[in-house]
Amino acid sequence: MNKSLGVKIKNITLKAPLLTSSGTSGSRDEINLLQNRKQVLESLGAFVTKGVSIHKSLGNPDPRIVEVRSGILNSIGLQNKGVTRFFEEDVPELRKYGIPIIVNISAATISEFGELAGIIKTKDKYNVISGLEINVSCPNIKKGGAAFGSDPVLVEQIVKEVKTKVKDSLCVITKLSPNVTDITQIAKAAINGGTDALSMINTLKGMAIDIDNMKPVLGNQTGGLSGPCIKPVGLYMVYECFRSIPECKRKEIPIIGIGGISNFNDAMEYILAGATAIGIGTQWFINNRIFEEIHKGLTKYLDKKKETISNLIGKAHGNK
Ligand SMILES: Cc1cc2nc3c(=O)[nH]c(=O)nc-3n(C[C@H](O)[C@H](O)[C@H](O)COP(=O)(O)O)c2cc1C
Repeated sequence: MNKSLGVKIKNITLKAPLLTSSGTSGSRDEINLLQNRKQVLESLGAFVTKGVSIHKSLGNPDPRIVEVRSGILNSIGLQNKGVTRFFEEDVPELRKYGIPIIVNISAATISEFGELAGIIKTKDKYNVISGLEINVSCPNIKKGGAAFGSDPVLVEQIVKEVKTKVKDSLCVITKLSPNVTDITQIAKAAINGGTDALSMINTLKGMAIDIDNMKPVLGNQTGGLSGPCIKPVGLYMVYECFRSIPECKRKEIPIIGIGGISNFNDAMEYILAGATAIGIGTQWFINNRIFEEIHKGLTKYLDKKKETISNLIGKAHGNK
């Protein structure tokens, strides 16, 4: 184990600053099916699950993924089997990974977020779960389906509700949506609500149209854009939050940087912008050695610079 790669997200110790990003690595036996399972688990600092909700959800109609220039659009629609089956079928498998497990949670009302957090805390008898990642990009059924994530008041309330239920037993991470005018306002609201960490960004709203049948390509008409094309946006948002939020700058509220990371260079840019760790989604669909490759790249870079990841977080901001 290379100590210079180790970081902490509040009480979660990561042996390397690399995480899967929610919805792109499943929640059960996907990693077990890989020939390079051992190397993936050795490279990862933590595993983040697909979004889990209280009840089963079938998600959106097909087609649900379409390739676009330098990225993909998806409209999976938070398909999952519900929290009860998640504990029966997935958690025993996740336990075998031997790394911290973070459960991404989704809900349609504020009280449902609290209820779900409470269920997870109660059901986690063997302490397999280290943290919860709140997906505030979920549609709010009380407000006609508009995402919670663009309203700072609602974001603060959701975080408070979840925190009240889990106290300090689980690390609470709030995953921010880029579909807002000023992400720092939403980040501040999550901090006011008591979040332990932030992750950013979720997908950007987008769509594609088939010019032959003259209809939207996705079954849900619109979807979320991810992959290399969103990297400059995610990087900017991490940089802005680190620059303008004192708790982030003091590293009291760590940031998990996500969005378009495709190689070691991208990962390092996010760390220099202010991320303590990084999450990878779309690139994992293309290259199942991405975590090993980035792990190697970071190790080489740190050796050459005689540095640690912790020392380099936010270094692009200089000493101002
Ligand atoms: C197919 C797919 C499913 C996703 N599902 C979720 C989800 O359940 N919860 C969530 O918070 N984010 C979800 N995301 C967003 C990703 O976790 C990530 O934030 C986004 O894709 C940007 O990272 P990337 O460019 O590395 O893919 C999903 C993304 C994709 C592509």
